[in-house]
Amino acid sequence: MAVNLQAVHDEMIQVAYEAGRMMLAANPADIDKGTKLNSVDIVTETDQAVEKMVSERLSAAFPDIAFMGEETYKPGMRVGPEPTFVVDPIDGTTNFVHSFPSACISLGLAIDRSPAVGVIYNPWQDLLFTAIKGQGAYMTRVKGTTPQKLPLARTPRPLQGLDTALVAIEWGSGRDGVNYQIKTDVFKKLAATKETGGAMVHSLRSLGSAALNLASVAAGQLDMYWEGGCWAWDVCAGWCILAEAGGIMVSGNPGNWEPALEERVYLAVRGAPSGQKEIVDEFWKVIGD
Ligand code: IPD
Repeated sequence: MAVNLQAVHDEMIQVAYEAGRMMLAANPADIDKGTKLNSVDIVTETDQAVEKMVSERLSAAFPDIAFMGEETYKPGMRVGPEPTFVVDPIDGTTNFVHSFPSACISLGLAIDRSPAVGVIYNPWQDLLFTAIKGQGAYMTRVKGTTPQKLPLARTPRPLQGLDTALVAIEWGSGRDGVNYQIKTDVFKKLAATKETGGAMVHSLRSLGSAALNLASVAAGQLDMYWEGGCWAWDVCAGWCILAEAGGIMVSGNPGNWEPALEERVYLAVRGAPSGQKEIVDEFWKVIGD
C-alpha cells in the first residue's frame, strides 16, 4: 500500500495543534488522575480524550492505516509491517499533571516497522518538531514562523567523548527491583569521576518526556539520551526526527532496530561530523552491557 507521507505529515501537524489546544485548555486542578502499572504510571482524562480525537481524525483521513495508541494498547498488540500510526497523546503525563511545561503529543507513522513520519508538539512552548523519512527534520519555534532545519547548529560539532557530553536520562515508571538497580547504576556511572570508573559527563538532564528528549538530541541541544523502559509510542516520532537530523538510535539489543512494543533500552546520539561510533563504544564500556 502506497502512503502519501507528505499528506500524513500535514494532517499530523493539524492534529498536533488541536491536541495542543486541548492540553492547554485542561485545568490541572480538575485532572482526574488514575494509574496504570504502578503509582507513578499516571493517566489522565486528557490523555484519553486527546487519543480519541487523534485516532478519529487520523482514521477518517487515512482509513487504510492501522492505529496504535498508548491509552488503547492491550498486551499482545504489535506494530506489524503494515503502515501504522504509533501515538502517544501526552508524552510527559507526569509533567502535565504537575503543570511543568515539558510535555507534548507524539505522532509517528511506522512502515515496515520503521519510523517514516514524526511530529512532536509541545504546546506550552509552541515548539513543533517534524520529519519525513528522506526529507530532513525541522523545528518550528512559534506557529507560522519559518521552520529551522535540524540539527540547529550551522556546523554540527564533532562528538568528543562522554566527558564533554550533556546526557539525558529518565527514571520512567519502572522503579521496581532490577529496573531500579539498572537505572541507578547507569546514572551513577555516567556522573562518577573517571578515577572511579565513571564517565564524568558534563551533566545529566531529564525533560520528563522521551519524545522531547529525542527531539532535543535531534536538534543538537543534548548529545545523548539513554532510557531503559521506553515503548514504541514514546520513540516512534522522535526516532524519525532524530534519524533525519543525522542522529542514531542504538538499541540495547544490538541488531534489533524495530520500534517494537516491548519495553527496551534506547540510546540516542546526536548527528555529528565524527565521533558517533566512538561515543557509543565508550558508553557501553562505561556502563557495562
Ligand atoms: C513517559 C515519559 C517519560 C519516560 C517514560 C515514558 P508518558 O511517557 O516519556 O519521560 O521516562 O518512559 O513512558 O507516560 O508520559 O506518556
